[in-house]
Amino acid sequence: MSQELTEYQGPATMEKITSLAKRRGFVFQSSEIYGGQSGAWDYGPLGIELKNRISRNWWKEMTQLHDDIVGLDAAILMHPRVWEASGHVENFTDPLVDCKKCKSRFRADMIPEENLAAKKCPDCGGELTDTRKFNLMFKTHIGALEDESSVIYLRPETAQGIYVNYKNIIQSNRMKVPFGIAQIGKAFRNEIVTKNFIFRTCEFEQMEMQYFVKPGSDVEWFNEWKKRRWAYYEKMGVKMDHLRWHQHGPDELAHYAKDAYDIQYLFPMGWRELEGVHNRSDYDLTRHMQFSGKDLQYIDQDNNNDRYIPFIIETSAGLTRTLLMVLCDAYDEEKVADKGNDDDWRTVLRFHPSLAPVTVAVLPLMKKDGLAEMAKDIQHELKQDFSTDYDQSGAIGRRYRRQDEAGTPFCVTVDYESKDNNTVTLRFRDSMEQVRIPRAELAERIRKEIKAYKRIK
Ligand code: GAP
Repeated sequence: MSQELTEYQGPATMEKITSLAKRRGFVFQSSEIYGGQSGAWDYGPLGIELKNRISRNWWKEMTQLHDDIVGLDAAILMHPRVWEASGHVENFTDPLVDCKKCKSRFRADMIPEENLAAKKCPDCGGELTDTRKFNLMFKTHIGALEDESSVIYLRPETAQGIYVNYKNIIQSNRMKVPFGIAQIGKAFRNEIVTKNFIFRTCEFEQMEMQYFVKPGSDVEWFNEWKKRRWAYYEKMGVKMDHLRWHQHGPDELAHYAKDAYDIQYLFPMGWRELEGVHNRSDYDLTRHMQFSGKDLQYIDQDNNNDRYIPFIIETSAGLTRTLLMVLCDAYDEEKVADKGNDDDWRTVLRFHPSLAPVTVAVLPLMKKDGLAEMAKDIQHELKQDFSTDYDQSGAIGRRYRRQDEAGTPFCVTVDYESKDNNTVTLRFRDSMEQVRIPRAELAERIRKEIKAYKRIK
C-alpha cells in the first residue's frame, strides 16, 4: 500500500484558489459591494456550470445507474416538529466561547486547550466566557405573527425531507426495501467559523442519498455504500492519494449515528471531511413515528407481511464542498518555456473534460480575412453538442492561457490554412500539443478524446 500523505504538497493555496475563482468568474463573495456577507458566496458563469456538472454527475451515478434509487426535491421549509423529532433542536449544537474584551467568538473545540483551561482569549488574552451550547439552525418566522407559534427553521440537512416522504414514495412508486431516495438541495447552518473560502459556509448545498434496508442487513449495506462512494471518486478522476477514510470516534458521532465514516480530502489546509457515510440505524424513522403519530413501519409483502422500521444508510456529500475539492484537485502550475509558447509559467485547471465548464473554445488566429467568420461558424456547429466559448481578443498565447485557467480541455484554432483546406488545429490543455484535423471530424474527435481522457499530471 502506498504511504499516506502527511501534508498537502501541490502548488494550490486557498488564497490562489480564491483569487483564481474570482478572476475567472467561478465564485464571488456575496454582496461584495457592501463589504461582503460572511458565510455566503455567489457562483459566477463558470462556477454555476461546474456546480451543475458535478451535481448532474452525482445524480446520474445515484439514480440513473441504480434501478433501486429514485429522486426527490423536498421543500427547505418544513414543519418545526420535524426538527424536534430529528433531534436537531436539542442536539445540533456547537460549544461556543466569547471573549469579554475583544468580543471575538470561538468554537471551544477549535482553540488551544491551554486557552480554554486558563479562559484566555487566543487573539487578545482577554477573559473568555464559560462554554455554552449554540444551536446551528437558522430560526425565522412564517406568516404575519412573530411569536413562538410561528417559528420555522431553514433545514440544516436535506435528509429529513426524505424521511418524511419515505412512505409516500413507497406507495406512489412501488419501492421495495432495500431501496434509496436521492436529493440535492440547499442547507443552512449558522456556522461560527467560516474561513477557508467555500469549505464551511452558512448556506451550502448537499447531495444526499438515504438507503432503506432491513434491520440486520445494515452493516453489510453500510460497507457496500462505503465501497461505492470510494469508487465514485475514482471514476471522477480525483487524485486518489488525496483521499482517505476517517472513522468517527464516540465523541464525534452525530446524535443519530450508529457508525460513521468520512471520506476526507487533502485540501491545501490539510485533511478535511468531504463526504459522510452514516449508519443512522432506525433512529430517524422511529422518532418521526413517535412525534407524528403515523405508522412508518414497512410492510414486507414478500415475507408474510412482516412489519419493521427500516435502518437507514446515508451518503452525504457537500456539493459546494465538492466544487472546492474539484478546484483544488485540478489546480496546477507549470513552466511552459520549453513548449515553444510564452516564456513563462502557466496556471492550469486540469478538470476532467466531463466536468469542465467550457469543453471547447474556438479561437481565430486573426479577426480579419474571414477567419473570425469561419471560427464563429465552427463554434455555432459545436455548440449543439458541447459547451463552447469564442475568443478573438489578444495574442493567441494569451488566449490559450485564459482557457487553461478556466480549465477548458480543448481549443480549436482557425488560421489561414483552415481557409485553404478546411482543416483546424485542435489543442489539448494538458499536454499543450496540437494536431491538425479536417473540420468535419472535429466533433467526433472531441467526443472520443473526452471518453478516452486520462489525466497526465
Ligand atoms: N445528513 C447528514 C449530514 O448533514 P454532515 O456531516 O453534517 O452530515 C454532510 O454533512 C456533508 O455536508 C459534509 O461532509 C460536507 O461535505 C457538507 N457540509 C456540512 N456542513 C457544511 C457547511 N457548513 N458548508 C459546506 N458544506 C457543508
